[in-house]
Amino acid sequence: MEAKTQQIHRGLRGVYADTTTASFIDGQVGKLLYRGYNIHDLAEKSTFEEIVYLLLYGHLPNRSQLDEVDAALRESRELPPEVLSILTLIKDCHPMDVLRTGVSALGSLDPDANDNSVEATRRKGIRITAQVPTLVTAHHRIRNGLDPVAPDPELNHAGNFLYMLFGQRPQEEEMKLMDVDFIIHAEHGSNASSFAARVAASTVSDLHSAVVGGIGVLKGPWHGGAAEAVMKMAQDIGRPENAESYARNLIENGKRIMGFGHRVYKAEDPRARHLRDRSEALSLKKGQPQWFQILAHLEQKVMRPYRDKGIYVNVDFYAGSIYYLMGIPDDLFVPIFAMGRIPGWTLQCMEQYADNILIRPLTEYTGPMDLEYVALEERA
Ligand SMILES: CC(C)(COP(=O)(O)OP(=O)(O)OC[C@H]1O[C@@H](n2cnc3c(N)ncnc32)[C@H](O)[C@@H]1OP(=O)(O)O)[C@@H](O)C(=O)NCCC(=O)NCCS
Repeated sequence: MEAKTQQIHRGLRGVYADTTTASFIDGQVGKLLYRGYNIHDLAEKSTFEEIVYLLLYGHLPNRSQLDEVDAALRESRELPPEVLSILTLIKDCHPMDVLRTGVSALGSLDPDANDNSVEATRRKGIRITAQVPTLVTAHHRIRNGLDPVAPDPELNHAGNFLYMLFGQRPQEEEMKLMDVDFIIHAEHGSNASSFAARVAASTVSDLHSAVVGGIGVLKGPWHGGAAEAVMKMAQDIGRPENAESYARNLIENGKRIMGFGHRVYKAEDPRARHLRDRSEALSLKKGQPQWFQILAHLEQKVMRPYRDKGIYVNVDFYAGSIYYLMGIPDDLFVPIFAMGRIPGWTLQCMEQYADNILIRPLTEYTGPMDLEYVALEERA
């Protein structure tokens, strides 16, 4: 009997699995809204603390609401000693693997661990958001033989990340840069890691399990790993005049240029512009203009013809250069993406819990049918 052929949507491309009020993306014109607000307004006028509130509560906070979420973040930054011990045990692992394990351990110890109510999930989302920078920076310091730096209650979220990483108070400008970076990474529809988190929530598993799933998925170079790969590419290229032959060589060998292309955006990723100018300004300030020059040359000259195919620069393209110029080691680039994305993963899980259906697609079987079982001793 001939197998019935189904219509297959490989990679679930173009498939709407549910509705959302988290974010709106128009990939044809490069538009992104969080809860109805344009990313350009949010990136330029808002703070990450406001975004946490906006995403988790659905509206912009007034002053006292903002103070409340800010206080909850400040109170939650410390890590339980058990988690610090685990970080020490696995200090030589990649920071994304450590982050995955660390969040899992935090889940085992969380007072709301198995409570999936709206209030508890929100509380856990705020706690994980607050704890993740502490986790990443504590691990980084431990692996370098340094003591973790305790969070500073005077500093905001972005400031604390830089303070706990470097052990000294960051400059206002760098704190703002980090803040913008967290804002533009906070939520992005049904991307692979958010979808993974949603799949976990759809089984009525807990938020920490969903976030652990999100972290595992984000790790891949086709998703969160691109910023690290872009900076490695810029270092390999070395000088702007080498960019063209380097990129051509990659493409002719069937490889992709990291930081370009997107499943949804067929125009410029609206988040990229907020990092482009900042990357240029920072590279001038640090006296290392070559990194921005290499990237700008790639974008404006080498990759320009690919715009006809809908391949434009994405959010990761300039991000790596900013982290690098701030002195952040390249294996922390993906964890930074994860730090920004926790509110988005939390919100998507909240949406899933609120109107749940098990996410369980089908795959069409194309293997052999009804084979005769041959006993082990009789097999060739
Ligand atoms: C993000 C990404 C996985 C989206 O992939 P997708 O929606 O599945 O797109 P496709 O794989 O169908 O690509 C369509 C075409 O564009 C090409 N293309 C896509 N991204 C490309 C890139 N970065 N460099 C060169 N060519 C690229 C593909 O090779 C394919 O060409 P073909 O039609 O001749 O085979 C892909 O663009 C990519 O790998 N980009 C680099 C990694 C990256 O920057 N990720 C961060 C995303 S925010």
